[in-house]
Amino acid sequence: MTIPIAVTVNGTVQEVQNVEPRLLLSDFLRETLGLTGTHVGCEHGVCGACTVLMNGDSVRSCLTLAVQADGAEIVTVEGLGTPEALNVLQTQFREHHGLQCGFCTPGMLMTGEDLLRKYPLASDDDIREGLSGNLCRCTGYQNIVAAIRSAAALRNKEPS
Ligand code: FES
Ligand code: FES
Repeated sequence: MTIPIAVTVNGTVQEVQNVEPRLLLSDFLRETLGLTGTHVGCEHGVCGACTVLMNGDSVRSCLTLAVQADGAEIVTVEGLGTPEALNVLQTQFREHHGLQCGFCTPGMLMTGEDLLRKYPLASDDDIREGLSGNLCRCTGYQNIVAAIRSAAALRNKEPS
């Protein structure tokens, strides 16, 4: 049995007719839609690399079925900015050396984006708590926290 779904991904409605009920959202994004910016590490909800926004909340796409996203709005790392026009969070990761191998980075960015949208005045402790479900094996986290702190300060300066 397959199920048709319609999901808005990065602002574009994606209608796919033959979705298997067991297909993970992470595989739907990467394999069906070719959006390989979402990384898959542990595949059981531990590392956070697969984090995307679903209806404005960060979710583990490896723990979400594609059919659960029917009718939802998804934002992946490809929806934050483009290589030519990175968003402020991405530029601050670059400025503060918030990544090394980059494997965890899409998940860190999407978690950071969720955090800053909901808590624009997040403290360092808030940022660390917000990132507690995202694992990085390279950076020691310090520069990731600095990048998010800096992005928050820059966003808060922008005229609303
Ligand atoms: S791949 Fe989803 S949490 Fe690790
Ligand atoms: S930069 Fe390598 S796992 Fe985080």
